[in-house]
Amino acid sequence: MHRETLLTPADLIWPLFVTEGTGIEEPIATLPGVSRWSVDGIAARAREAVELGIPCIALFPNTQPDRRSDDGKEALNPDNLMCRAIKAVRDACGSDIGILTDVALDPYTSHGQDGLLDDEGYVINDDTVAVLVDQAVNQADAGADIIAPSDMMDGRVKAIRMALEMNQHPNVQIMAYSAKYASAFYGPFRDAVGSGGLLKGDKKSYQMDPANGDEAMREIAFDIAEGADSVMVKPGLAYLDIIWRAKQQFGVPVFAYQVSGEYALIEAGAAEGIADRDALLMEKLVGFKRAGCSGVLTYHAPVAARLLNHG
Ligand code: PBG
Repeated sequence: MHRETLLTPADLIWPLFVTEGTGIEEPIATLPGVSRWSVDGIAARAREAVELGIPCIALFPNTQPDRRSDDGKEALNPDNLMCRAIKAVRDACGSDIGILTDVALDPYTSHGQDGLLDDEGYVINDDTVAVLVDQAVNQADAGADIIAPSDMMDGRVKAIRMALEMNQHPNVQIMAYSAKYASAFYGPFRDAVGSGGLLKGDKKSYQMDPANGDEAMREIAFDIAEGADSVMVKPGLAYLDIIWRAKQQFGVPVFAYQVSGEYALIEAGAAEGIADRDALLMEKLVGFKRAGCSGVLTYHAPVAARLLNHG
């Protein structure tokens, strides 16, 4: 009766990894319980999400190595893995599911960075934004509902918003990865999209310093002013104060991305007998809601939804 925070399947966004082929399920070693699925399998997961009451899925492609290049131009191919997955989900589920798509070049570049590089290997902001805009329109043309730029370039939200307006996508939303930290928790994700082995160095020239909170508020303010419909804080658990501050200061929908390393640590801890997995994951998810989140991107989405639906 006195419970203040309610977690439901409607608070969950399920990230899914797409791979080439038909009838393929590839388990990801560093993300126990998570697989890459071929497009037909992604459509099946989307139907599962609808049945579980999960309102939205987030898609990430594992682009074939021979389609990766310095400039990541496969991101602009209207028939790329991402676009085929979007269409298959739409065919399978109609408007019963929201499709959120990641905008950044790392699943398409041969160097694993999110943008274009200069001769010294530094990510060039403005040239990258120009490509991200076309990537976003390509995804919207394929049927994405929510564009989620995770690249952390400056000025990309405004540029994407303008391009969506000019390309007959006025209703496509933008969920901005506004406060995205240069984190040690992304490792298993990079394995999942196949960029981990390619990446040299780090992403500290564009992702945030984990020591900074005021800077996160400035990043969020920019993205809201540029037209973001919602903002994201990423990773989740080490940044609950940022979620709280963002909600208090701006009052917009705030989402947390409980990232791959956070998921993997729960699974590893449970496998070691530290505590009950279901209890661990539910406690963390409700913590995000208590901190002010409208929802959480989590690889535990189907497990959590089942627990919430059936106990
Ligand atoms: C990159 C991107 C990353 C994640 C989502 N989009 C990794 C990175 O910045 O290297 C991480 C998600 C996760 O770890 O679960 N554009």
